[in-house]
Formats: sequence, structure tokens, C-alpha cells
Amino acid sequence: MRKIIKGIPLPSGTVHVSAPAKVNLYLHVLGRRNDGYHLLDSLVAFVDVGDSVSARAAEGLSFSIEGPFAGQLSGASDNLVIRAANLLAQAAGVLPNAALTLIKRLPVASGVGGGSSDAAATLRVLCTLWKLRLGRKEMAELALRLGADVPVCLFGKPAFMGGIGEDIMPSPDLGRPWMVLANPGVGVSTPEVFAARTGAFSNAARFGEALETPEALAALLAERRNDLADPARRHAPLIDTVLAALSSRPGCLLARMTGSGATCFGLFTSEEAARAAAMGIAAVRPRWWVVATRLLS
Ligand code: C5P
Repeated sequence: MRKIIKGIPLPSGTVHVSAPAKVNLYLHVLGRRNDGYHLLDSLVAFVDVGDSVSARAAEGLSFSIEGPFAGQLSGASDNLVIRAANLLAQAAGVLPNAALTLIKRLPVASGVGGGSSDAAATLRVLCTLWKLRLGRKEMAELALRLGADVPVCLFGKPAFMGGIGEDIMPSPDLGRPWMVLANPGVGVSTPEVFAARTGAFSNAARFGEALETPEALAALLAERRNDLADPARRHAPLIDTVLAALSSRPGCLLARMTGSGATCFGLFTSEEAARAAAMGIAAVRPRWWVVATRLLS
């Protein structure tokens, strides 16, 4: 496996940046704006599994996709990586000269923010390659233009996310609990899930205390929800099967869908429990994407 060194140019002149999966530990929908976007309160964290983006100097802009899920992306010019590169070049007043490679390890349209994390990683990798010094605010504005989840991915640490995704506030320490992510291989459309949401809106549910154990985190999350789970289930009833598969495993403290689905996460008591659960689920569901992973602090 190639070693990923965050944002540091290797002797070959290639820069690598990791694009970790994001997990919405809770996601409350607080309201809906006139333009159709929804106001959110979500606790977002990142895990130790993800895509990566690399860039090297080149004439013009080229883009290739490798990795187990490369086939799920067309490689078309509307890919968020290409859009991020062109937007950054335009904002910085430079030519978009780079050969970009995306290693796609995360399932597409699955609620783990793969596309958003790829876009954020592209902004970072190209700032290094092109030696740009854009301010944090300007970068955050560019990120939001690429998608509502891109600012939190650019931030890259556990955070409360508000507004439609642009308000980022670091969260208290969540420790580094072990999780299992499981996706049944059905893509879910984020706009369709938001549009299918009905009923009353939720309240914000932020908290201030650090959570030192997975048990404490699970107890606090149990009082919160993912408001997109019900509408997502109606599109993809298999989500219930995924939640049941996770929560029936020994050591699972809480199982919940992330983002607009269909990926679900299980929060586990220990590394051993998470690894055993992932192996057990993968054995009976060979077509699912299942990984044991750990929260990044
Ligand atoms: O911003 P992004 O392109 O990732 O959002 C995809 C879709 O998800 C939007 O077009 C919108 O329908 C929905 N969305 C929303 N409210 C948010 C984020 C996304 O309604 N805060």
C-alpha cells in the first residue's frame, strides 16, 4: 500500500492528501430555507478509512480514478474533484495545471461524504502543489460552493455543523471509539431523501462535555437521532436490515444511519468487538461493504 503523507510533497513531486469518510453521529433537521436547502444541527466526525487524492505538476488538468469503487464514478467532468480544481484555480487566478488521481475506496452516494471529502482533499492538495496561501474564510466559502458537506470535510475534525453546512464549531473530545460501517450496496439520492422528509422539525442538541468512553458517547447519542433515517428507509428498506445486522452483534452500543444513507455505523465497546462484528457481518453479507474503523480525533 502506498503511504499517505498529509499534504507533504514527496521527492517525486506528487502530493497526497487523505479524504476520510465522515459519519453523522446525529443529524437533526431544524428547518427548511426558501431555496429548498435544510437547516441542520449535526455532530460530524471522521474515521480512519477513506479515499485519497494525489496531485502532481502537469500541463493542463487531467484526472484519473483508481481503487475498488472507481467503476461507480463515470470520471466525467462534473466530478467534484475536477470542479474543486477549476474553482480553486479561478479563485486564486492560476492556471489549473495538475494531474490528479483519486483513489476511490468509499462507496458512492452512501452517506459517508466521499464526494465531499474528495472535494475538500482536492482543495488542500492543490493549495500545496500550487503553493497558494488562501485564508481560512476564503477556503470555507469555496468549499460551500462545492457542496453543503464540503466545509466540515475541509475542517476535518469532529465538529458540530449548523446552517446548511457552513457553520462549523469544534466538538468536545469524543475519544477514539471503534465503529463498524456497513453499506448494503444501494445508492441513495440525498435530494430525494431530504425532499421525502415530513413532520415537525427538531431542535438543536449540542452538548459541552467531553465523552471519554464509547459507553458515554453512545448514551448521549441515544437521546438524539438521524432525522433522515425515516425518509431514507422508505427509499431503501434494506437500511433496517443493516441496522439489525449491526445492533445484534456483541459489543454494539448503538447503530444508526449516517447522512442520507444508506451506510449505517455501529458504535462498539472495543476494537476486538468491532473487528469480530465486521468479520461476522461480511461473512453472511459478502456483497456489502463492511469495515471496522476508528474515529479520528
Ligand atoms: O450541497 P449538496 O450538493 O451536497 O446537497 C445535495 C442536495 O441535498 C441539495 O441539492 C439539497 O436537495 C439537499 N440538501 C439540503 N439541505 C442541506 C444539504 C443538502 O436540502 N443542508
